[in-house]
Amino acid sequence: MLLYEGKAKSVFSTKDPSIVRIRFNDKTTAFNGLKKENFKNKGMTNCVISTLLMGLIEHAGIETHLIQMVGDTEQLCHSVDIIPVEVVIRNIAAGSICRRLGLVKGYKFNRPIVELFYKSDDLNDPLINDQHAIDFGWATLEQLDMMRRKSLKINDVLQAFWLKKGITLVDFKLEFGVVPSGKMLLADEVTPDGSRLWDVETGDNFDKDVFRYGNGELSEAYDKLLRRITELPQNL
Ligand code: C5P
Repeated sequence: MLLYEGKAKSVFSTKDPSIVRIRFNDKTTAFNGLKKENFKNKGMTNCVISTLLMGLIEHAGIETHLIQMVGDTEQLCHSVDIIPVEVVIRNIAAGSICRRLGLVKGYKFNRPIVELFYKSDDLNDPLINDQHAIDFGWATLEQLDMMRRKSLKINDVLQAFWLKKGITLVDFKLEFGVVPSGKMLLADEVTPDGSRLWDVETGDNFDKDVFRYGNGELSEAYDKLLRRITELPQNL
């Protein structure tokens, strides 16, 4: 049974109430749904990439909702209550931080910048601070601190992974959820839809900015990214 229909994924129940099936689709939206298009194989590519990256993250000791990939476009995952606070980690200035703070795109931060956003389509995911999250009941201070700590560790894991593939991890967004026991898991997805990934040499985008700003073919960019991930190192 369909439990939830998101912009790029649908969540279905399974016989086990503690497990859900998540299907990645080919829909792509930007600017909070204002721009929409379907891209062939995008669901499959994102499902494969998210499965691989969540595996790396899990291996680094951070628990995720992922149980296993099933078929081409689906994952079995632990059911969680999503904390409605999105964590964005930025290594290099791009996107909304440039508009908000007048920074030049490409400026490299001395240390990763951590930002929190309230997950609300109606409000366009506004930037928030700790007090908003705590006082409005979206997360506790302990949860926020844990989310920041986990996100920074995930940044180390992902930066090192992408660099080996000749790609700079500019920024990315994470969502966390809690299971009934209260344990926090990384949830949602880790994909080029929610990250900025630039070729180290050419600066070309391998992410949703290709679609947002119409500077190329998204399917091609994601396809290249998937090939970059799966190709063997030159010295093997
Ligand atoms: O738009 P902004 O520059 O704040 O986005 C920062 C990072 O978070 C980008 O990689 C973007 O793809 C991701 N993001 C997201 N979902 C949102 C907002 C941002 O995946 N709702």
